[in-house]
Amino acid sequence: MKIGVIGAGNIGATLAKKLAASGHEVKLANSKGPDSIRELASDAGATAASKEEAVRGVEAIVVSIPFARLPELASLLAQVPADVVVIDTSNYYPFRDEEIKEVDSGKPESVWVSEQIGRPVVKAWNALLAETLVSKGQPASAPSRIAIPVAGDDGQAKALVRRLVEETGFEALDAGSLIDSWRQQPGTPAYCTELHLDELTSALATADKALAPLNRDALMTFFMSEKDLTHEKVVAKNRALTTNVSA
Ligand SMILES: NC(=O)c1ccc[n+]([C@@H]2O[C@H](COP(=O)([O-])OP(=O)(O)OC[C@H]3O[C@@H](n4cnc5c(N)ncnc54)[C@H](OP(=O)(O)O)[C@@H]3O)[C@@H](O)[C@H]2O)c1
Repeated sequence: MKIGVIGAGNIGATLAKKLAASGHEVKLANSKGPDSIRELASDAGATAASKEEAVRGVEAIVVSIPFARLPELASLLAQVPADVVVIDTSNYYPFRDEEIKEVDSGKPESVWVSEQIGRPVVKAWNALLAETLVSKGQPASAPSRIAIPVAGDDGQAKALVRRLVEETGFEALDAGSLIDSWRQQPGTPAYCTELHLDELTSALATADKALAPLNRDALMTFFMSEKDLTHEKVVAKNRALTTNVSA
């Protein structure tokens, strides 16, 4: 499949590498332009592209840029045919991103993104840490893989994204429609807790919409104050605060 990835950071570049390794033809773009990511793209098995090139002639586009910058992609994506699937990996952290009142008032993040860019999105790969994506994927034959949620309103688009998620080494759980995708946002039990399929199913079901932003902010305050923060500590703390699954 031909895939464009917008955003060449922790998540975008890793997804480009994994999707290229699965046999897809991947174009990778950032904001500074292709010359700034030639080596990165080549190491990933992808082609460095401008944003305009990256979205041309592809079947799927992954957008993996900071949350508050997503509206900048509206005019770019307006040129893209309606049947191209757009995948949103983003998460909103008000301390880091500019504060967005609608999201603070409860609009699910990816609903806001979809409105801002003027087209449907499927939310995927947002609920795992970059380090999990880099190092914890396993082949489909592995006995117990980490599962991640995939939310969206179009069944066909979601099926395509679930296949791509599986190819990157994770079980893809259908997490329902985009309006329900708050269940996989920061501060929920499904978010960056490295659960298996049955655990993730119950995590999504037990999520508390009012509690999630409070958990999100409490976790961030804790992580920022912690010396020697490791990946394992982040996952363990996420689990301890939001789930009944021990690390
Ligand atoms: N890091 C994680 O653990 C993690 C996990 C799950 C989901 N996420 C989410 O995934 C998204 C990406 O996260 P990240 O950690 O990969 O970010 P990152 O490392 O900071 O990389 C961001 C990338 O976005 C590009 N970018 C910014 N504005 C752009 C624009 N207007 N047009 C094109 N490219 C633009 C940047 O390019 P330039 O450098 O050229 O500006 C950079 O390549 C975020 O929404 C984040 O919340 C992150």
